[in-house]
Amino acid sequence: MKAILLAGGKGTRLRPITHTSAKQLVPVANKPVLFFGIEAIRDAGIHDIGIVVGDTADEIRAAVGDGSAFGVRVQYIRQSAPLGLAHAVRESRDYLGDSPFVMYLGDNLILHGIRALVNEFRASQADAQILLAAVPNPSSFGVAELDENGRVLRLEEKPAQPRSDLALVGVYMFDRAIWDAVAAIKPSGRGELEITDAIQWLVDAGRDVRSHLISGWWKDTGKLEDMLEANRMVLDTFATDVRGAVENSTITFKVVIEEGARIVNSTIRGPAIIGRDTVIDSSFIGPFTAVSHDTRIVRCEIEHSIILENSVLTDVPGRICDSLVGKNVVVGPSDHKPRAYRFMLGDASEVRIF
Ligand code: DAU
Repeated sequence: MKAILLAGGKGTRLRPITHTSAKQLVPVANKPVLFFGIEAIRDAGIHDIGIVVGDTADEIRAAVGDGSAFGVRVQYIRQSAPLGLAHAVRESRDYLGDSPFVMYLGDNLILHGIRALVNEFRASQADAQILLAAVPNPSSFGVAELDENGRVLRLEEKPAQPRSDLALVGVYMFDRAIWDAVAAIKPSGRGELEITDAIQWLVDAGRDVRSHLISGWWKDTGKLEDMLEANRMVLDTFATDVRGAVENSTITFKVVIEEGARIVNSTIRGPAIIGRDTVIDSSFIGPFTAVSHDTRIVRCEIEHSIILENSVLTDVPGRICDSLVGKNVVVGPSDHKPRAYRFMLGDASEVRIF
């Protein structure tokens, strides 16, 4: 069995971060979301992964390479344009051949992996298996309607009036029947070839489409709040592990400090992770915070946030909360008169001040 992992698309909901980076490489607990997907596929016993890439192909290649660091074989499938998930499947045909496969959306994170689900599909004679999860906001997802026996009746992509609260999780399993489906469907209202429509086509054609309600935690990390929640969930699974230097500081509850990091005159209250070669000086790093590598934080208070690499935050007067700070960002005081805020913000940046 092979897998395709989708890492193309546009990433509009995470701008401005995604003006310069692939959304699938934004880290959760200091690990790119995409890597969780690679590991989940590998841990399900699948070692051939085709990563579908678009405009951010070079960055994804640089991060993942040939897959050997993960113990898998990776090939890259260049999608000609981000025309939808079913379009990505169409363009993966040469790579996949006729074998059954897993399709995994590169911005999805499933905390307890997919091993049992893949085994269930392998053992069945089903044409497709979809995963469902009950969500409070089904209109943001593909939504499934089931009959009283749990069989799939209808699937709709981001319906205004959802018929259930069961969202399609971004992990799908297909056999060769999917090729007829992706060839038959037409672009949706938003101009994309929807995988949801392809699965509906299988249902309408009387194919065996199984659904599985997942009980574990799952997140589509497309938006800031979802990234922060994913960060929370993953950090909470960590145990304390201090590999860096801690001087005159207090470290409490599930804190990971990576090699070369230095914590000086500070408090780190976990769950939290401080990346390699980062310096935290005279600061408070509160629960659910991930600070990436080579970053410097001096006289700041930060909680429930993700701070990316090579950034410098100094003397921020209030507590920073619920924030995602990109790479190479500088936040700090100004020596110039008059006293004023001075910004150089990328397009679509958001700054909230009080
Ligand atoms: O996360 C689950 C949801 O994922 C499902 O409930 C929806 O039914 C499904 O359509 C999908 O919705 P999204 O709007 O969240 O999909 P998004 O555009 O974010 O794309 C998902 C991943 O696939 C992301 O890593 C980008 C990649 N992608 C996307 C498109 C449209 C591609 O590689 N190529 C593409 O053409």
